[in-house]
Amino acid sequence: MSYADLYASWQQDPEGFWMDQAKAIDWVKAPEKALDASAAPLYRWFADSQVNTCYNAVDRHVANGRGDQAAIIYDSPVTDTKRTITYAQLLDNVASLAGALRAQGIEKGDRVIIYMPMVPEALEAMLACARLGAVHSVVFGGFAAHELAVRIDDATPKAIIAGSCGIEPGRVVKYKPLLDAAIAEARHKPDFCVILQRDQCHADLVAGRDHDWHAIQQDVTPAACVPVAGDHPAYILYTSGTTGAPKGVVRPTAGHLVALNWTMKAIYNVDPGDVFWAASDVGWVVGHSYICYAPLIHGNTTVVFEGKPIGTPDAGTFWRVIQEHNVRSFFTAPTAFRAIKREDPQGAMIKDYDISCLRALYLAGERADPDTIEWAQRVMNVPVYDHWWQTETGFPIVANPAGVEALPVKIGSPTVAMPGYDVQVLDEAGHPVAPGTLGAIAVKLPLPPGTLPTLWNAEDRFVKSYLTTFPGYYETGDAGMIDDDGYLYIMARTDDVINVAGHRLSTGAMEEILAAHPDIGECAVIGVGDELKGQLPLGLVCLNKGCDRPHAEIVKEVISAVRDQIGPVAAFKLVAVVDRLPKTRSGKILRATMVKIADNQDFKLPATIDDPAILDEIRTALQPLGYAKG
Ligand code: COA
Ligand code: AMP
Repeated sequence: MSYADLYASWQQDPEGFWMDQAKAIDWVKAPEKALDASAAPLYRWFADSQVNTCYNAVDRHVANGRGDQAAIIYDSPVTDTKRTITYAQLLDNVASLAGALRAQGIEKGDRVIIYMPMVPEALEAMLACARLGAVHSVVFGGFAAHELAVRIDDATPKAIIAGSCGIEPGRVVKYKPLLDAAIAEARHKPDFCVILQRDQCHADLVAGRDHDWHAIQQDVTPAACVPVAGDHPAYILYTSGTTGAPKGVVRPTAGHLVALNWTMKAIYNVDPGDVFWAASDVGWVVGHSYICYAPLIHGNTTVVFEGKPIGTPDAGTFWRVIQEHNVRSFFTAPTAFRAIKREDPQGAMIKDYDISCLRALYLAGERADPDTIEWAQRVMNVPVYDHWWQTETGFPIVANPAGVEALPVKIGSPTVAMPGYDVQVLDEAGHPVAPGTLGAIAVKLPLPPGTLPTLWNAEDRFVKSYLTTFPGYYETGDAGMIDDDGYLYIMARTDDVINVAGHRLSTGAMEEILAAHPDIGECAVIGVGDELKGQLPLGLVCLNKGCDRPHAEIVKEVISAVRDQIGPVAAFKLVAVVDRLPKTRSGKILRATMVKIADNQDFKLPATIDDPAILDEIRTALQPLGYAKG
């Protein structure tokens, strides 16, 4: 089948297309109706079905003879550990953990927060929740206690499952003090916690609240899978929006199963039994979809890699993992490749390994710059597929359908719309623009199965953030264009979200922290270009009148405030003190203009600017930080 035929088959009968894909899922009660549009523009897929995610990701593979196949390969250069877990073992582990959670009172619909590093137990915790119909919310380990507290208050979990620590190169990150601080700060208190003690750091447990991962499973009855309705929330994953309050993206159970399963062959071109590796983190959507759920649902082997592209121990680590575990398709963020390229520009280290098992490299999460793509193609000698999607969608919107028909790669484009997505570029009035013209990227409603039906506890925010600007469309928050061949190009975000080393962050959230500093009267945080991480946040702060404290002291304080409240992952290290910020006459801060100045890009002086002279002051202030050098 060609891509054109595939896309046309979806266009002609969208519901029939997804009903066909639904046949690959094992249902307790199969869906009779694909789409429920009765509450449009809110949609539900497969709502009349009954199903269990864990059954599809684990049990059915054991029942179908895959019990001895590796489900998870854990490869951890930071702890010097390698371990393989078969599907049969995974089933035992997950049923036992689910049994322990149930014995403590976890039932269908209860929320459970998971705060764990890249260990197989993180996947087991996710699957144990799925087994019970409990709704997990995984929080990335690089977030600070405050961010965890915000999520505890929003998700109101009955339990929190955490690791005692994570391991970053050169330091052990103790999770337990962060967890304790978050629970102390949150208004909502979980009934209990389960702590996985790691050899690198043993956490003190709070009597009556905290249970040891192994002790809590002693003598419990393994839990069976609990059927849930097709539109039951499988999980909540918080992601950055415009304000400091993260958005709780809800993932619907049945659509998630159907859509993810379909992508494994059509996009990632793997067959059941093949080894698939996504080098990301379970705290991000890539980790949810392509470390945990999709490969397991599809009967693949997934690699859980606890390490970094460089420094654990060197820039050859990725090649070693691909060779050693026979990886067929590999997915990571461009920033990881930029790091390897910087360390080993000639790609000399790859010569020590045989990566002929690999068929393709997939990049997403941030803009893939042409240099990096070309470098990866050259040293790896496999096709490099950029593809574009978001936490909200859970699977690719625009990609190269390599398992159906590998389309020619146009460097700079993540290729073409996948079935399920009618992607349009719109002008400000919401009208589709001509090919080659820049505009806001939107997707015609309804979105396909598996995409977010709403935001947790925030239906109004869902409608306002995504469905209001362009009625009848989902607003992606990205801007770009489509060329004459239907290839999409992503150029920029239209909101205050930035992408730092593939991590999605809110400049608005950082501004809220800066603005709370007693000496700061006004501030702006912008995303400036960075060769390694794609973007970095940079704060511009105006001090209160009369403040005579040394600027360096205040700068230090705001940097540590962002690290303490958002976490090290924000990578907030650049701050300039300025007398005033450029604004329009109506008082809007000209952030985009400051980004252009910082990155030495041409820009048109905004017609509404209040006082153009301020731009020179900004340029001067940015230069000591290595920006706006002209
Ligand atoms: N737990 C605790 N801290 C974490 C963490 C975690 N899970 N992940 C990152 N951090 C910390 C880092 O230690 C670092 O702290 P520091 O300021 O004390 O050095 C900070 O957060 C920033 O981390 P990171 O963005 O990873 O930068 P880095 O300089 O340590 O490493 C790369 C640079 C390119 C090697 C790294 O960013 C990388 O591997 N990126 C791949 C991105 C990726 O997989 N994205 C997922 C989306 S698909
Ligand atoms: P996240 O929700 O963390 O996956 O981030 C989604 C955002 O990352 C998108 O809205 C884009 O802004 C950006 N993004 C993801 N993939 C790509 C890509 N292939 N090219 C450019 N930007 C991307």
